[in-house]
Amino acid sequence: MRILVAYATTEGQTRKICRFVSDRLAGNGHTVELLNVADAEGLDAARFDAAVLAGSVHVGKLQPALIAFARAQAGALAERPTLFLQVSLAAAGQAPEDWEELRAIARESFDEAGWTPGRIEHVAGAFRFSEYDFFRTWAMRWIAAQQGQKVDPKSDREYTDWGALGAAVDDWARSAAEQR
Ligand SMILES: Cc1cc2nc3c(=O)[nH]c(=O)nc-3n(C[C@H](O)[C@H](O)[C@H](O)COP(=O)(O)O)c2cc1C
Repeated sequence: MRILVAYATTEGQTRKICRFVSDRLAGNGHTVELLNVADAEGLDAARFDAAVLAGSVHVGKLQPALIAFARAQAGALAERPTLFLQVSLAAAGQAPEDWEELRAIARESFDEAGWTPGRIEHVAGAFRFSEYDFFRTWAMRWIAAQQGQKVDPKSDREYTDWGALGAAVDDWARSAAEQR
């Protein structure tokens, strides 16, 4: 299949995740185009057989550029198998109220864009202190403390479960191929 992998990222972890996803799909014989939604001008998602969209949660919201991309491509996306990868730190934890919020963000963010993802996967992201300014460093230390985690602001920490992500992507691609 020809598969589009389109993402928005603020500190870079979703780009890393989408590179991994692209390599995984290409390794399984698919033709993949990896695209930052900031560079999507002129793109027609109808050129592809299936699409993966990905974005990260910041203060309870996804990147507006990702939602704008979904709105612009909603017609083509609705007719193809799609997977939405939502990257967050809450997905690294088990708190039921955090998970309820993550599910609501994934469910509702694209409502006004007119797109409903075919499948949603929550992916744990990373603390990237190397990318944060003073305010963000302070905010993220506070968030970590709220979750009972100790973080060292001198080093980044990744929570992404690459094995689980790879298995989910393989499974989605298999069922997408069957739907064609
Ligand atoms: C200022 C800020 C706010 C964040 N807010 C949330 C949040 O509300 N919920 C959450 O689960 N994670 C939150 N995160 C964690 C990010 O989703 C996580 O670091 C993710 O890996 C970022 O992906 P990116 O590097 O692709 O932007 C926040 C991170 C930052 C820096």
